[in-house]
Amino acid sequence: MLSAAFTALTSLICANVAVARMSHMSPLQRSHSSVLSPEIPERGPSHVPSSPGCGADIGWPLYNSTINVTTTVGVHERSYLVHIPKDYDHTVAHPVVLSFHGYGKTAGHQEVASQLSEPNNTINGVPIIAAYPQGLQGIGRSGDGSDGKYSWQAAAYALPNASDIEFTHTILNDLSANLCIDTTRVYATGNSNGGGFVSGLSVRSKPQSSSFLAQTNKLACEPRTNVRFAAFGIASGAIYPDAEPDDDCKPQRKVPVLIAHGTDDDVVPYKGEHIDDPDWASPNIDDFATGWATRNGFGADAHQDSGMLPNTTMWVWGEDGDAGQVKRFKIEGMHHQWPSTVVSLDKRHKVAPFNLTGLELLPFFERYALPL
Ligand SMILES: *[C@@H]1O[C@H](CO)[C@@H](O)[C@H](O)[C@H]1NC(C)=O
Ligand SMILES: *[C@@H]1O[C@H](CO)[C@@H](O)[C@H](O)[C@H]1NC(C)=O
Ligand SMILES: *[C@@H]1O[C@H](CO)[C@@H](O)[C@H](O)[C@H]1NC(C)=O
Ligand SMILES: *[C@@H]1O[C@H](CO)[C@@H](O)[C@H](O)[C@H]1NC(C)=O
Ligand SMILES: *[C@@H]1O[C@H](CO)[C@@H](O)[C@H](O)[C@H]1NC(C)=O
Ligand SMILES: *[C@@H]1O[C@H](CO)[C@@H](O)[C@H](O)[C@H]1NC(C)=O
Repeated sequence: MLSAAFTALTSLICANVAVARMSHMSPLQRSHSSVLSPEIPERGPSHVPSSPGCGADIGWPLYNSTINVTTTVGVHERSYLVHIPKDYDHTVAHPVVLSFHGYGKTAGHQEVASQLSEPNNTINGVPIIAAYPQGLQGIGRSGDGSDGKYSWQAAAYALPNASDIEFTHTILNDLSANLCIDTTRVYATGNSNGGGFVSGLSVRSKPQSSSFLAQTNKLACEPRTNVRFAAFGIASGAIYPDAEPDDDCKPQRKVPVLIAHGTDDDVVPYKGEHIDDPDWASPNIDDFATGWATRNGFGADAHQDSGMLPNTTMWVWGEDGDAGQVKRFKIEGMHHQWPSTVVSLDKRHKVAPFNLTGLELLPFFERYALPL
């Protein structure tokens, strides 16, 4: 299965697009120095919420449908994959989904697992552009790098100076400049550590220096990042002890959040306790979901729906399309993985009862757009 899945990656083209090269491709190319004070890109000439890349040829050498873009953020060379849908049209503003991999995984793994590059994925009838950022090798659980794996900033095992938030802004600026994107329909999702990063609550489980804390930035929790995303999706999210529902999370708007987690997850257990190491225990997923609902102005009580998906209970706060709707999927028997019926590339090689991406995640995203 592993090799079969990775066969799907053979269409990847490793186009190393240096910043220097991109800088002469288009006068619209944004300076990467702007990422510290991100601006929302200017609207195009029409009333469509479009990006500077609209109406132009794709600003990257495109051989096949998934390209590997490299760029420099701070002191680090970074890369991410971008999947251009078959029906990409440079006169149409396309929705964008950023999909962050789990601890020790890669952008390529996340492309396969999260199913966002599959044909015919649309939002609002328009084919989506999916981007898969690559994390840097972290300091590991030992803290000295000897067991470091690819990870996202703010987890204790990540590289403290990774600047993943700046990286995220850089990706959005690059996509805007090189492709025709709908800047009101940009979404973020992630698996495990990637889900924790997206949720904004993937915080340290061990004491850290103040410089580390200062860098503990958050996608959904912080206005300076959540202003660029219409909605968030978290699969098997790795959310650590300090991530109590109210922990330092001040989104300053109602943030739509979808949360999916399995009851047989032994890496980030549903109920929060951890069998191997109490220091790594995470909050109960129900409390985590309730925390988001409360922050979005709902009462603690959700309405429950058990009938629609196999082996799954859904809690939902708010009606479809309500600002800051929160959906929580408790998936009986699912392990630590992206929810899909395809055998997981994670170590336990399990399957889930349904495909989250097509059935729930994209329809959820579709209901939300940023204001013009
Ligand atoms: C693009 O993909 C096709 C089919 O997977 C392959 O035959 C071709 O060599 C690829 N093109 C490039 C430039 O890599
Ligand atoms: C993309 O490029 C970077 C930098 O060259 C490389 O480290 C990474 O492995 C590449 N990713 C894929 C999927 O080829
Ligand atoms: C995608 O849509 C096209 C056109 O509607 C259709 O021919 C094709 O079978 C679809 N592919 C998949 C995998 O659903
Ligand atoms: C980034 O952090 C790593 C691990 O702590 C360290 O080895 C490296 O020197 C740091 N780089 C910079 C530029 O601070
Ligand atoms: C639902 O759970 C039951 C009991 O564990 C299992 O036999 C069945 O295969 C599951 N259904 C799906 C669609 O995964
Ligand atoms: C889940 O998605 C995979 C890959 O597209 C597909 O083969 C499978 O049939 C889907 N499962 C269900 C239950 O629709």
